[in-house]
Amino acid sequence: MKDKNIVPTQRERVMRENDFIVSKTDPKGIITYCNPIFIEFSGYTEEELLGTQHNIVRHPDMPRAAFKLVWDTIQSGKEVFAYVKNMCKDGGYYWVFTHVTPDFGPSGNIVGYTSVRRCPSRQAVEKVIPVYQQMVAAEKAAGARDAIGAGTQVLVGLLTKTGMSYDELVFSL
Ligand SMILES: Cc1cc2nc3c(=O)[nH]c(=O)nc-3n(C[C@H](O)[C@H](O)[C@H](O)COP(=O)(O)O)c2cc1C
Repeated sequence: MKDKNIVPTQRERVMRENDFIVSKTDPKGIITYCNPIFIEFSGYTEEELLGTQHNIVRHPDMPRAAFKLVWDTIQSGKEVFAYVKNMCKDGGYYWVFTHVTPDFGPSGNIVGYTSVRRCPSRQAVEKVIPVYQQMVAAEKAAGARDAIGAGTQVLVGLLTKTGMSYDELVFSL
């Protein structure tokens, strides 16, 4: 279970160049596998992670619309790439560049998801921070019911302005 009392701190853990943080979930986002690097960065034990919703590492600075986009994409059977700020058990944080893919069963149905995360470039993180800040601000202003729509609008506005698709934007950073 996610502990709602964790207070976010400014303590950053930076991924090393050759690190891969890997996890697998069931179709509902419950963690079924985590590698040692995930355990190291999140600060949770394997026992705490397995059987728990993946939002255990959700950071309050992350816009809800970002996760909506991730879930919409993977549930439709496609892969997705995203920059994510995650929260450690001690309130610290770590930035990742994640690739999430659906896992298919023999009949083509989705039986779970796999995420592999690499160290993002500092330059990309610096560009993502203000975008996520704008999205979170719009989500807060809109209120819980309209949050995802408001956050999505900020992202769509940026894509329209740059003339890029989401994937093009992510890989241009
Ligand atoms: C394979 C997989 C990996 C995920 N990895 C993360 C992650 O590292 N951090 C995170 O905050 N959410 C991750 N999520 C998304 C969470 O399931 C959840 O949607 C998100 O944390 C938002 O939580 P909330 O719906 O409670 O706001 C992942 C989902 C899947 C399917």
